[in-house]
Amino acid sequence: MTPFQWNFPTKLTYGEGRISEAGAIAKEYGKKAMIATYARGGFLDPIIDKVESSLKAAGIDFVTFTGIEPNPRSQTIDKAIEQFKAEGCDMVIALGGGSVIDGSKYIAATSFSGGGCWDYVVLGDRKPREYTGAYPIISIPTVSASGSECNAGGVLTNSETKEKSFSRSEYRFPKVAIVDPDLLTSLPMGVTKDSCVDIFSHLIEHYLSSHAESEFADRITEAMILTLKDNFDLIINNLEDKEVRGQLALCSIFGWSGIQALGRTGCIPMHSVEMPLSAIYDLPHGRGMTIVIPPYLELMADTLPHRWAKLARRCFGVTESDDLKAAKMLSGKVVEWLKSTDSYLTLSDVNIPSDQIEKMADDVVRMFKGPEPDTTPGPRPVTKAEIVKIFEMCK
Ligand SMILES: [Fe+2]
Repeated sequence: MTPFQWNFPTKLTYGEGRISEAGAIAKEYGKKAMIATYARGGFLDPIIDKVESSLKAAGIDFVTFTGIEPNPRSQTIDKAIEQFKAEGCDMVIALGGGSVIDGSKYIAATSFSGGGCWDYVVLGDRKPREYTGAYPIISIPTVSASGSECNAGGVLTNSETKEKSFSRSEYRFPKVAIVDPDLLTSLPMGVTKDSCVDIFSHLIEHYLSSHAESEFADRITEAMILTLKDNFDLIINNLEDKEVRGQLALCSIFGWSGIQALGRTGCIPMHSVEMPLSAIYDLPHGRGMTIVIPPYLELMADTLPHRWAKLARRCFGVTESDDLKAAKMLSGKVVEWLKSTDSYLTLSDVNIPSDQIEKMADDVVRMFKGPEPDTTPGPRPVTKAEIVKIFEMCK
């Protein structure tokens, strides 16, 4: 195991109907909230109304900032920051999926620390600005995917430069996450599938990129992958099953909380490779992961074959005893599983032209630089040529 420090400071509040407690909870953290959420006019409208009513009932003043996009744009978040400061807000209530919660973290921390939200993201060799603190954040997830509701990470897209990157700050842990399965049942089929694959991608990134070993982390990850697989099958048969939504919510939260990587933190090459798909083509992130995971697993299987083989045996029923042979079976098993849930996709299915592959690979190695030129970090540096090959295999 490698040394680590881990904390989970977010108070996790779970249960049907608990959104009605938003006002009482907010009262503990401030006087004027910004509710940050998606544009009105969709299935979230009654949920936004409920949060507003709860705040009114608790005597909390608020403004509602609507219009945060999936793949939240730094330009939109900067507008929210301006409004947050102009209105004298002192906390953010993030009501939405990972995009809204990520965006809200930048609103809370940038309003406190100054500058623009893009100053703080990791970008190639640039040294990102550091926060000095953040206003309190309360997360109310309406999607189970990113785990953002209980972690300190956040991803932003710059729509001018077509770049997408991330940052992490301890200041940005939500104080409270209100996870109400009543809200999660409104999620349509497509987003539900994308979300399940995103959870899967989080569970396998560190598992397959760390050179250190931690059986605890492996077992806890495998338990979540098996839970995810079972509940993925169940949810696509009944999108309104609240028990199943609750199980998926836990997979989302703990699958990207750090507990799944204790003692063997690695890196996140599959997320780096997916970045241009959502940054340039605005593809939902989970859908992009669906596309890049199988070819990555195939191309990199000989890098850490014992880890690929362990995952294949423990979660995908592979019985082959030779590690390399078992490792090479993992990609096919994952494709089989994605097809069984009708989730498997290629670049042409989402209309991404193959003549952009070279540029997309360039973006990956420029923004997420590996230890050698023209590489990005992975279990070994992943070269630009290999990233091109992964995209070619996605066609
Ligand atoms: Fe992700």
